[in-house]
Amino acid sequence: MTTKNWTAEDIPSQQGKTILITGANSGLGLEASRVLSSKGAQVIMAVRNLKSGNEAISLIKKENADAKLDLMQLDLSDFASIHQFSQEFHQRYSQLDVLINNAGVMFPAKRELTKQNFEVQFGTNHLGHFLLTGMLLDILKNTSNSRIAIQSSGQHKAKMGRPDIYFDDLNFNKGYNKYVAYTQSKLANLLFAYELNRQLKAGHMDITVVAAHPGYTKTNLVRHSGFLVQSVITNILAQSVEMGTLPILRAATDKSVIGGEYFGPTKMGEMRGYPELVRSSDKSHDRELAGKLWKVSEKLTQIIYNFK
Ligand SMILES: NC(=O)c1ccc[n+]([C@@H]2O[C@H](COP(=O)([O-])OP(=O)(O)OC[C@H]3O[C@@H](n4cnc5c(N)ncnc54)[C@H](OP(=O)(O)O)[C@@H]3O)[C@@H](O)[C@H]2O)c1
Repeated sequence: MTTKNWTAEDIPSQQGKTILITGANSGLGLEASRVLSSKGAQVIMAVRNLKSGNEAISLIKKENADAKLDLMQLDLSDFASIHQFSQEFHQRYSQLDVLINNAGVMFPAKRELTKQNFEVQFGTNHLGHFLLTGMLLDILKNTSNSRIAIQSSGQHKAKMGRPDIYFDDLNFNKGYNKYVAYTQSKLANLLFAYELNRQLKAGHMDITVVAAHPGYTKTNLVRHSGFLVQSVITNILAQSVEMGTLPILRAATDKSVIGGEYFGPTKMGEMRGYPELVRSSDKSHDRELAGKLWKVSEKLTQIIYNFK
């Protein structure tokens, strides 16, 4: 029996939906903005650089002049920017059907810090989105059948990344390894997704959390990875942005999800292919680890989630 591949054509009309995408000026976030606006959604493109965001909007509008796009400034490596963003978002919108936590930074050669002095991958990829999601939870609660789609990575279980949450040195003060730090941030994305989904369900809330990963996709993410990776390996192995965006699009729109799913490609060791349900590591499902990460994240971001 052959099963049909899931493609963007399977996305139902998104007319009337309000969708917020982080990292929307580039790569997967830009493609998700293009596709979801072509389906009729009002898309809020959250970007840290407005010039680059405006260029992204021009690209989409060239193809679809009627696309409903709004550009908002958001730097996930700065809690003040996230607070400012949330305030402006609350002024502009009272509905949020889908929040897509997509932005991310990978493998900076030297240890970099966020504005609040967290290691930049953990601080941006996990803590920034943890704070953002908590600040928008009231609007998500006020929107029926809303959803949070979280972009993780196959790297969350890569052996060379020694997957774990390093509670005794979350910011790698004692020794920096860019692979280990990225892996920690992407494992944290999944622990957060599953724990948030459990807590929302326990609170009988009408919000679903679904995770995804894009396999290996040709985007700007490899900008810190050196000539060989950027110009040779990526060109040979990576799939197109259109293909790599399908898992997060499926996580954001597939009507059959119940929460806690993880979508990704299934071919070539999950590097390429159409999105299907895939299995994340046992560690990503560890509830004790998730609970511990949750408590630390609340403390570090100074936000207490309200599940009532
Ligand atoms: N491409 C892959 O093969 C792959 C594999 C696994 C997972 N992923 C994940 O997919 C997501 C999207 O990455 P991509 O491949 O599309 O790479 P990309 O083209 O580099 O896009 C990353 C996006 O994140 C934004 N970003 C980075 N730091 C930010 C910050 N401090 N505040 C706000 N936005 C920030 C970037 O903005 P700027 O343009 O301003 O830098 C950009 O829009 C990431 O979470 C990544 O970990 C990608």
